[in-house]
Amino acid sequence: MTILVTGCAGFIGSNFVIDWLNNNDEKIVNLDKLTYAGNLNNLISLDGNKSHIFVEGDIGDSDVLKKHLIKFKPRAILNFAAESHVDRSIHSAESFMQTNVIGTNRLLECTKNYWQSLPQKEQKEFRFLHISTDEVYGSLSEDASAFVETSRYEPNNPYSASKAASDHLVRAYNHTYGLPVLTTNCSNNYGPYQFPEKLIPLAIHNALNQKSLPIYGDGLQIRDWLYVSDHCNAIRAVLELGIVGEVYNIGGLNEKTNIEIVHVLCDILDELRPLSSDNIIKSYRDLIIFVKDRPGHDRRYAINATKIETELNWRPKETFDSGIRKTVEWYLNNAKWVDQVISGEYRNWIKRQYS
Ligand code: NAD
Ligand code: TYD
Repeated sequence: MTILVTGCAGFIGSNFVIDWLNNNDEKIVNLDKLTYAGNLNNLISLDGNKSHIFVEGDIGDSDVLKKHLIKFKPRAILNFAAESHVDRSIHSAESFMQTNVIGTNRLLECTKNYWQSLPQKEQKEFRFLHISTDEVYGSLSEDASAFVETSRYEPNNPYSASKAASDHLVRAYNHTYGLPVLTTNCSNNYGPYQFPEKLIPLAIHNALNQKSLPIYGDGLQIRDWLYVSDHCNAIRAVLELGIVGEVYNIGGLNEKTNIEIVHVLCDILDELRPLSSDNIIKSYRDLIIFVKDRPGHDRRYAINATKIETELNWRPKETFDSGIRKTVEWYLNNAKWVDQVISGEYRNWIKRQYS
C-alpha cells in the first residue's frame, strides 16, 4: 500500500514523512514543487530508504498529478502543500491564491477522477486528508472561548482567506461527489526544520548572529504552540480513525504571548550559548526591538482540542518547556542546515520585510 503526500519537503511535511517511516513500512510518495520553503536537505536522513519516493511537481499541474496517481495508486492523499507565511501573503497574495486555492482545487479534481476509477471496496477505504490552520477562524479576544470545529470562518489576512477557500473546496468535494475527505485545523507548529522566516526559528537565528529580534506591535498577541511531532501523531490518528467528512482541531494547549516566547528563547540561549563577558550585550534579551505591527494582525488564536482528544484519543505529549528546549538544541546542532537555507531569496525577503 502507498500514501501520497504533497508539500513534504517543507517544515511540517518533512517531519511527517520521517515520523511516518519511523512508525510503519508503508510507502510514501512525496510530491513537492520545491518553492523557497521546500528543502530536500530536510529529508537527507531518508537517503537510500526505498519506502520514500520523491517527485518534483506542482499540485496545480493536473498532468503530473494524473500520471503519478495512475503510477502509484495511493490509498490516501494528504495535502500539506501550501504557501504558508502570513507576512509574505500581505506583500503579495498571488502565489497563495495560485497554490492554496487553484492548486487545491486541481488536486481535488484529479483525486476525484482517480477515486471514481477505483473498485468499490478501495473507494470506500480511500481518504483525502487536508491540512489546514486555526487562522481560518479569525481572531479571538482575550477572554473568548477557544476555537471549536464549528466556529465561524472569519479569515483576516490573504493567507488565511486562501486556506479558508481551500477548506471549503474540500468540504464541497465531499458534499457534491462523496469524496471521502478529512480536514484538520491546527495551531502554530514549532520544532526542527522550520524555515527561519517564522517567529521561533527567526528569533533563534537572529540571536545567534547577534541581530535584533523584531517583535511586531506590543508583542502581546497570543498563539497556541503545538510541537510538530505531536501534530504528526494527530494527523496519523485522523487518517486512520477519523470519520469521513469531519473536521478535527489540533492544538498544543500552550497559549503564549509572542514576547513570552522570545524571552524563553533568549533565556535558553543565555544558558546553552552564553555571550562572552566582554560583549556589550549581557543577555540575548537585549537584542529585542519592538517594530511596526503586522497590518490586520490577529490578536489571539486558541484551539479547543476536545473532539480529537475524546473521539480519537489523541493528546499532545510534549510540554512547552521540553518542546522549546528541544527546538533550540536542534537549531544549535544543525547550523549547517540553517546556513544552507539562508539563500539569496531569504536575504531578499528579510531586507524587504524588516528594513
Ligand atoms: P512550509 O511553507 O514550510 O512548506 C510548504 C511546502 O509546500 C514546501 O515544501 C513547498 O515547496 C511546498 N509547495 C508550495 N507550493 C506547492 C505547490 N504548488 N505544489 C507542491 N508543493 C508546493 O509550510 P508548513 O509550515 O510545513 O505548513 C504545511 C501545511 O500546514 C500548510 O498547508 C499550512 O497551511 C499548514 N499549517 C502550518 C502551520 C505552521 O505553524 N507552520 C500551522 C497551521 C497550518
Ligand atoms: P508567525 O511565525 O509568522 O506565524 P503566524 O503569523 O502564522 O501566527 O508569527 C507568529 C507570531 O509572531 C505572530 O503573532 C506574528 C509574530 N511575529 C513577530 O512579532 N515578529 C516576527 O519577526 C515574526 C516573523 C512574527
